[in-house]
Amino acid sequence: MPSHAAAKNRPAKAPAARDFETWSKLWPSETAAKSVPLLKALHILTREGTLNADSRRKLTQVLHLTQMLRPAIEDLLKDGGDPILADVGAGKSYLGFILYDLIFGPAGRGSVVGIEARDQLVASSRELAAASGFDRMAFVASPIAEATLPSGRADMVTALHACDTATDDAIRFALRHEAKVIALVPCCQAEVARLLEGQSGPLRQLWRHPIQRREFGAHVTNVIRGLVLEAHGYKVRVTEFTGLEHTMKNELILAERHQRSNAQARGELNRLIDQLGIKPALLDVMPT
Ligand SMILES: C[S@@+](CC[C@H](N)C(=O)[O-])C[C@H]1O[C@@H](n2cnc3c(N)ncnc32)[C@H](O)[C@@H]1O
Repeated sequence: MPSHAAAKNRPAKAPAARDFETWSKLWPSETAAKSVPLLKALHILTREGTLNADSRRKLTQVLHLTQMLRPAIEDLLKDGGDPILADVGAGKSYLGFILYDLIFGPAGRGSVVGIEARDQLVASSRELAAASGFDRMAFVASPIAEATLPSGRADMVTALHACDTATDDAIRFALRHEAKVIALVPCCQAEVARLLEGQSGPLRQLWRHPIQRREFGAHVTNVIRGLVLEAHGYKVRVTEFTGLEHTMKNELILAERHQRSNAQARGELNRLIDQLGIKPALLDVMPT
């Protein structure tokens, strides 16, 4: 056993080396060292290659989400599959980059397309993809509602914290492309709370106070999104995304298509809408 004095005299590890030891144990890849430049560029590691409170939280989130999405992506990659994943409202595309680094890249098949309205973010993502050698990543600068993909195909659609009704645009986009898998982590939502304001009816106590209206509105929004997807034949699971401090942004809606439509879910959706007396814009995807 090393003596106390020897341990004391051993040179202290540099913070970057110490932190590498910590996070590389969690990183689900043999080649964590290769990911360092990418993780620095995404601010998941600091410029010095260390972790701070913010980057540690981001790293945990990303790894957790990757593990939750991995089975669905691997299913699409099975038997020579060459799936296209569209990440909409991509921002800096950190989800797309990590999924490529950990799953699509090692698989040698499949592509990731980031769709983002802000030109500057798309330009920097293109640069980072080129610098990382991620040649099956592409970026489209466009609002989600008008976006067209180079291949015209999207097998899986992800939308992580796409603001307000951008998550609904993601759903419309996914339905338009008949995506097999849809993963949504909604962000802030205001539309339903606005529709509930002044709305009477037997349930009105549920949204009488503004703060409760906002929270109930956000909850109802996600319930409606889940039912809309079920009515379109998706099997929907709703789980906690990760231990975020803000619970309203902590819901993962994971939908996998298994039939063309579901009349029972459609009936449930209609009943809920009747009870609440509101018509959110997303109902435009429901056949009349
Ligand atoms: C809160 S950020 C989240 C970014 C990224 N998904 C993440 O989790 O780090 C939302 C992003 O969606 C983009 N966005 C919002 N509405 C959009 C729309 N309708 N079409 C395309 N991008 C949109 C914004 O420009 C912003 O970059």
